[in-house]
Amino acid sequence: MPRTPVLAGNWKMHCSIAEATALAGGLASKVGRVEGRRVILAPPFTALGAVRKAIEGTKIELAAQNVHDQSKGAFTGEVSPAMLVDAGATSVIVGHSERRALFGESDDFIRRKIESALAIGLGPIVCVGETLAQRDDGRTLAVVGSQVDAAMRGLDAAAARRIVIAYEPVWAIGTGRVATREQAQEVHGQIRALLQEMGLPAADVPILYGGSVKPDNVDGLMAEPDIDGALVGGASLEVDGFARIVEYRA
Ligand code: PGA
Repeated sequence: MPRTPVLAGNWKMHCSIAEATALAGGLASKVGRVEGRRVILAPPFTALGAVRKAIEGTKIELAAQNVHDQSKGAFTGEVSPAMLVDAGATSVIVGHSERRALFGESDDFIRRKIESALAIGLGPIVCVGETLAQRDDGRTLAVVGSQVDAAMRGLDAAAARRIVIAYEPVWAIGTGRVATREQAQEVHGQIRALLQEMGLPAADVPILYGGSVKPDNVDGLMAEPDIDGALVGGASLEVDGFARIVEYRA
């Protein structure tokens, strides 16, 4: 079975409820019936309900951008895995580099989130990626490898198959500086080899690329053998642009 491509929009801290409704509604009519690819929208928490309604009856899936690992309690400002399921999400982004860098999320915390999400049936979209300084030091594989290891080592095959990995070089996020398809493919191949080495079903785990994916570079990226989709920030906020990304031609 070839891996089903995944095109996911990470809206970050953008969109009022009205804006989210319009964006999701526009995508629902343009790509709501697309065959052979998964389309996932990750609005902010406040717009989950509105987007859920706007994509009802389409094949578009709903994701959240973050989750806490505990099921309930005194965690002001946090949202539990069960709350996301209740809001209609079927996936959740975990370990985005902005969470790691700006909010101090550790590999251990991210692993706990992954396990809590899996336990309740949410599919984790696990982000990994190196900074520019780490790349320049020749440490890309060491950094990305240790993030993947912390996230997935010891999971059983069924759990691993429900995870989507997103390789997002930090230097390419929001900068307009996309990794070349060769740079991305190299790291994707290394991640897949590491999954294999960990005894996980490497061929079944989609590995998305993220970082300045746009309508004009998605086709080249998607032509690479180990690039199974895209996690898109800025370019996911506009109906026609994101629809073109969903309808990439490899
Ligand atoms: P970008 O963001 O597409 O705006 O670079 C990607 C991401 O952070 O997921």
